[in-house]
Amino acid sequence: MSNVANKNTVWHEPSIYRKDREKMNGHKSVIIWFTGLSGAGKSTVAHALEDILHKNKIRTFVLDGDNVRQGLCKDLGFSEDDREENIRRIGEVSRLMMEAGVIVLSAFISPFIKDRKIVRELVTKGEFIEVFCDAPIDVCETRDVKGLYKKARAGEIQEFTGISSPYEAPAKPEILLDTANQTIEKSVERILAYLRKQQIINVE
Ligand code: ADX
Repeated sequence: MSNVANKNTVWHEPSIYRKDREKMNGHKSVIIWFTGLSGAGKSTVAHALEDILHKNKIRTFVLDGDNVRQGLCKDLGFSEDDREENIRRIGEVSRLMMEAGVIVLSAFISPFIKDRKIVRELVTKGEFIEVFCDAPIDVCETRDVKGLYKKARAGEIQEFTGISSPYEAPAKPEILLDTANQTIEKSVERILAYLRKQQIINVE
């Protein structure tokens, strides 16, 4: 990719900063990054959390692999390089939305530690909250909500995470959810408690 544009651009300092937006909103903005296998519950928990936050007048947006791959990332597949580029783009979009004052809920398999680390390092400490949806492969495969595991086992989908492509679990996520056994409500409550404790939101 050409770098020419980067050389000839000059950062334009805004007059309205994130802190101004946060003050108006009455809450801080962060990136809540859900990682885990397909079918582990990332999007389900992200949307359930968003429902509650929204009811409490908190600005949110869910970015989700299946949706983003139909637009912004529709040119990308599932090779290691394409996944890296997928996560790089989502990381940048998440950061922009966070700067806009939104609590961003990003739900992507994001199987590689190095790619998640790049996103973490895009923002200040405390602004990237990694939520590991920890459901083992056998549970995800039994659920097989989208029928993709069956296709992957039959060899109809290549490089499928957990079957023919690796998943690197986070060693020290901010939040670990046992999404194989715990209810969605319980997972949401865990995240809400964390957000309150970190004084990101101030709701009951
Ligand atoms: S990531 O690895 O690059 O982070 P992402 O979260 O965007 O993946 O997309 C994952 C979704 O794409 C899965 O939930 C599944 O529905 C679909 N998918 C299609 N092919 C694959 C594949 N080979 N591996 C994993 N997910 C796939």
